Amino acid sequence: MKKTNKMMRVTALLMMAVFLLSLAACGSKTNTAETQAQPAQNPTAAETKAADAQQSETTANTADTATEAVSSGNKTLVVYFSATGTTKGVAQNIANATGADTYEILAAQTYTEADLNWNDKSSRTTTEQNDKSVRPEIGSEKISLDGYSTIYIGYPIWWGEEPRIMDTFVESYDFTGKTMIPFCTSGGSGIGSSGKNLEQNAGTGKWIEGERLSADTDIAAWIKGLNLS
Ligand SMILES: Cc1cc2nc3c(=O)[nH]c(=O)nc-3n(C[C@H](O)[C@H](O)[C@H](O)COP(=O)(O)O)c2cc1C
Repeated sequence: MKKTNKMMRVTALLMMAVFLLSLAACGSKTNTAETQAQPAQNPTAAETKAADAQQSETTANTADTATEAVSSGNKTLVVYFSATGTTKGVAQNIANATGADTYEILAAQTYTEADLNWNDKSSRTTTEQNDKSVRPEIGSEKISLDGYSTIYIGYPIWWGEEPRIMDTFVESYDFTGKTMIPFCTSGGSGIGSSGKNLEQNAGTGKWIEGERLSADTDIAAWIKGLNLS
C-alpha cells in the first residue's frame, strides 16, 4: 500500500513536471513569435524611411544636376547699359580685372540729350521712370548666356532707380544657376533698391548685394570683398 502511494506520488510529480515543461515550451514559443513579429514590422518602417531618404537624395541630386546643367561653364560676363559713357568705363574696368566678356545693352531708340533731361518733367526718361511698367525695347542682338556662371550687371541711376530698360533685359533672360552682381554709377545716389528690383523682375539667378562704383573704384578690392566662391 505504502509502495502504491509512493508510486502514485512519483507519477503525480512526473505528470506535474511534464505539465510544467509543456507550459514552459508554450511560453517560449509565444515569445519567439512576438520576437519575430517585431523585427518583421521594424524593417518595414526602416525600409520606408530608407526609401524616402534615397528618394529625396535622388531628387536633390537631380536638382543639383539640373542647376549645373543650366550654369555649366564658369565664364564671367559684364552686362551694362550706359547712356553717357560713365557706366561703360566702369564695366570695362571690371572686364579688365576679371578677364570677362562684355555685352552692351543698347536701346532700340537711342536716348538723346533731350530724352536725358531730368529737369524736363515730360522728357522720355522722366516719363519712363515715373511708370514702373514701361519696358523700353533693346536694340542690341540677344546674347547667349550659356557658359557664364557670373554676371556683373551695370547701369546708371535714374531718379534713384534702375533705368526701365534694365528691367526689359532681366525679364528677357533665364539666370538660373548664375551669380548676379549689380553695380551702378550715379551723380551721388547709392544703388538703393535697384538691385533688389532687378532680382525681383528677373525671378531667377542668385543675386548678391550690389554697389555704386565710380571710375576711381579699386575693382580688384571690391571683387575680393564680394567673397565670391
Ligand atoms: C534721367 C537721369 C536721371 C538721373 N537721376 C539720378 C539720381 O537720381 N541720382 C543720381 O545720383 N544721379 C542721377 N543721374 C546721374 C547719372 O546717374 C550719372 O550721371 C551716371 O553716372 C550716368 O551714367 P552713364 O554715363 O553710364 O549713362 C541721372 C541722370 C539722368 C540722365
